[in-house]
Amino acid sequence: MKLDSGHAVTPVEGEEKARLKKTFVGYPDGLVRVSPDRWLFPGRYMDLGNDYYNFEFRKEDVLIMTYPKCGTTWTQEIVWTMRNNPDLNNPEAHWAVMDRVPFIEFDLFFPKHPPEGMEIVSSSAFLKYCPEGDLRGPFNLQLSRAIPDPRTLKTHLPFSLFLPDLLEKSKVIYVARNPKDMLVSYLHHHRLLRAQEFIGTLDEFADHFLNDDLVYGPYWLHLKEAWQRRDHPNLHFVFYEDLKADITGELKKLDAFLGTGLSGDQLANVAKYTSFSEMKARDALFLNDEASKNDALYNQEIRNKDGGFFRQGQSGGWKTKLTPEVAKKMDEWISRKCDFGIKFT
Ligand code: PPS
Repeated sequence: MKLDSGHAVTPVEGEEKARLKKTFVGYPDGLVRVSPDRWLFPGRYMDLGNDYYNFEFRKEDVLIMTYPKCGTTWTQEIVWTMRNNPDLNNPEAHWAVMDRVPFIEFDLFFPKHPPEGMEIVSSSAFLKYCPEGDLRGPFNLQLSRAIPDPRTLKTHLPFSLFLPDLLEKSKVIYVARNPKDMLVSYLHHHRLLRAQEFIGTLDEFADHFLNDDLVYGPYWLHLKEAWQRRDHPNLHFVFYEDLKADITGELKKLDAFLGTGLSGDQLANVAKYTSFSEMKARDALFLNDEASKNDALYNQEIRNKDGGFFRQGQSGGWKTKLTPEVAKKMDEWISRKCDFGIKFT
């Protein structure tokens, strides 16, 4: 099938499917490749890809764009708080991040045909902003469209899978992370979340990454598309490592980019409220203890052993997780594939 973007979408079949299915036991609707770049997505992208490509961005939108596990949720909370809650007194702050900053293509990770009676939506935002919404349709897409200005939105899709005038319409914040820390975090994510469940070893997961066989990959191309646009006035390119090293300095840069005009006290509020310890303590992602304790959604063995969504929140943690062999392969990959000027700390 041809997308409006000109890309071709084809289901992953045959030998490739068999190879990936050995260790990826999640992804119930299968996987698709988007050519010619070989982007890999869950099967529902076949139906929804054009809705994402043609998504209507608006002047006041801020889109947070990342490859998975690069600091998306942290940035979502930072940006929403800067724009809507710098004095920490907005009652909507008690909604989960997912409700305030919708994840445009999150529906890719929900089954196309949910079992009858499956309660998918219990979201305060959906009930408020989509009162006529279709509970069995792509509800994250509906929510992304429906929330009022000023919208802050999340995506893991790369630039080329949105309309080419995205940066003329809206602001984009792109967050990049050292591939080795991203890899460790993405492996944990795939072991934790049943929807994407991976049952292989670290070495196998690393090989999948190096062969562009992880969902949302290729990471190098994702980065490259953003890096090439980094001088556009509507794009703010930031590294996870810089947020960790100097949150105050980075918040000031974001304040200038967003035009939020926050005071020093307000920026200090944002830094504290969005710190790893505070976000972890209030389980900011879903604010729903039940979801993270439900073994059908989260693998409880992994959660108890290695942590939940808010796992470690550090830079350089890969040093205690990756074997020297995998670290070497990753370094080779970085110098070979990320040859367009980006430097990781
Ligand atoms: S996702 O699922 O792709 O949206 O994940 P994403 O939010 O991009 O990345 C998750 C990693 O970010 C860490 N995290 C944070 N680090 C620092 N400060 C704050 N506030 C914060 N919130 C989340 C999270 O722990 C994941 O990294 P790891 O290395 O696994 O701990």
